[in-house]
Amino acid sequence: MKSMAFPIHRPRRLRSSEAMRRLVREATLAPSQFILPLFACEGEGVRKEIGSMPGNAQLSVDNLIPEAEECKRLGLGGLILFGIPDTKDELASGAYSDEGIVQKAVRSLKREVPGLLVITDVCNCEYTSHGHCGVIRNGDVDNDATLNWLARTAVSHARAGADIVAPSDMMDGRVDAIRTALDEAGCVNTPILSYAAKYASVFYGPFREAAESTPQFGDRRGYQMDPANAREAIREITLDLEEGADMIMVKPAMPYLDVIRTARDLFDVSIGAYQVSGEFSMIVAAAEKGWLDLDRTILESLTSIRRAGADFTLTYFAKRAAQLLS
Ligand code: PBG
Repeated sequence: MKSMAFPIHRPRRLRSSEAMRRLVREATLAPSQFILPLFACEGEGVRKEIGSMPGNAQLSVDNLIPEAEECKRLGLGGLILFGIPDTKDELASGAYSDEGIVQKAVRSLKREVPGLLVITDVCNCEYTSHGHCGVIRNGDVDNDATLNWLARTAVSHARAGADIVAPSDMMDGRVDAIRTALDEAGCVNTPILSYAAKYASVFYGPFREAAESTPQFGDRRGYQMDPANAREAIREITLDLEEGADMIMVKPAMPYLDVIRTARDLFDVSIGAYQVSGEFSMIVAAAEKGWLDLDRTILESLTSIRRAGADFTLTYFAKRAAQLLS
């Protein structure tokens, strides 16, 4: 039977020129949607390139400042800080010390680059000698004992001036513990961006080189989510929102677009997505080989994350993407 739709309907009409395509475009990108992850380390004048993440480096605080100024100039949404302490111990003391590397970096960034949003990653794996995200008891991460470290870390970040604290450890009850501690410390206006649906992903590989946070034994599958589970993400997000999360995150991004979409449909909160180190590195590697066009891949990957429903994206491409859009 002859189709009634054609030749009446011709979707190509609305693709006929860039002006037309722009008019009907659904998902759009803007620099304000991008958050750049940065790695703060001790010392002065330090810029230690990360081999598996070309263009990214561990930066001492003095070198973070010009980087942050550039983020501000480009109109980025902000940056998220990870700390690489000089020494690690069983107790992750560098995580919650007021003289910890992130605390020092935040104080200096808020002073030197006012107006730029600074998010801090709240976790222990960069600070523990064993590389796990919490207290080890009987060969396993003790959930409840870890909550105290996280709460102390979040409070010290907030006191240093962090605009948002973002727990990435995946302990149960951490949002509640952090909210309670922040409120008791008088930081009632510091929002929590919870890494609510964080998967135990192979795509974190390059980050672990960057943050020197590879677990010395075992893996993170006892606390991060099983990549096979989508319904469980809804449960995780629901619990975190009940505990008081202000915003939630899905991580990684591109392999989990379905999770972003489902979260968008079910929850009326701001949703972030983290285009993680492995997603970054594989795109850069393919581009270096001449197999993909770097700039177009950056924009298409970020558009796909946006289309899936993310309000903002943490991405190592943040600066380049902003330049491409200007
Ligand atoms: C800390 C943390 C990790 C990432 C963000 N926060 C590593 C991990 O969970 O092993 C990964 C970020 C990336 O790969 O870019 N828990």
